[in-house]
Amino acid sequence: MSSVAGAVCEVESGSEASSQNIVRIAIFASGSGSNFQALVEAITEEPEAFHAEVALLVCDKPNAYVIERAKAAGIETAIYQPKQYEDRAAYEREVLARLQEENIDWIVLAGYMRIVTPVLLNAYAGRMLNIHPSLLPAFPGLHAIKQALDYGVRVTGVTVHLVDEGMDTGPILAQRVVEIEDGDTEDSLAERIHAVEHEVYPMVVRELIHGRLRPRG
Ligand code: GRF
Repeated sequence: MSSVAGAVCEVESGSEASSQNIVRIAIFASGSGSNFQALVEAITEEPEAFHAEVALLVCDKPNAYVIERAKAAGIETAIYQPKQYEDRAAYEREVLARLQEENIDWIVLAGYMRIVTPVLLNAYAGRMLNIHPSLLPAFPGLHAIKQALDYGVRVTGVTVHLVDEGMDTGPILAQRVVEIEDGDTEDSLAERIHAVEHEVYPMVVRELIHGRLRPRG
């Protein structure tokens, strides 16, 4: 076991994925997509280290900027309007069918603003991860950066975790600390948090999909 670049996580050596196949990732996003971009760039820059591709963007907001990013990167997009479905399960059944059509191996949530239901969770158990802009279990849910500022904590950070049926509650894979400075605003703190996210998320994805990282406990 060894630690990776300051992240609190565990790495197993000598357990490379045996498959020669390129790992196919679907990124789910609802907004700007800066983490989507960081992941796509990291994978493009280091194809041999990742041995993976972002095969699909799943987006539940037809006007989200992330869709432009996917188009510019030549990545297939699946765009949905969940309100048009009878319920959340019906929406996810359609998403799941598309994932299966595309032979998706892993789901990476990156600013996807929905709770995932058992339809997707069961199909991708242990193969779905999320990034959250706080040191979980502190400040789960919406507006985590504002929550940290309002509370007055001196440090906050970034957590990458496996997804379960709760809100930001799954097993933790990696965390990085970001200090809160005097005079920080939500914007200034968000900028530093995003910079850390863009570094840590690709690293965790790379290690996890090749079996070199798992949650503690
Ligand atoms: C990130 O801060 C991430 O932690 C949270 O949503 C935000 C998405 O930002 N889950 P972006 O769309 O990747 O820029």
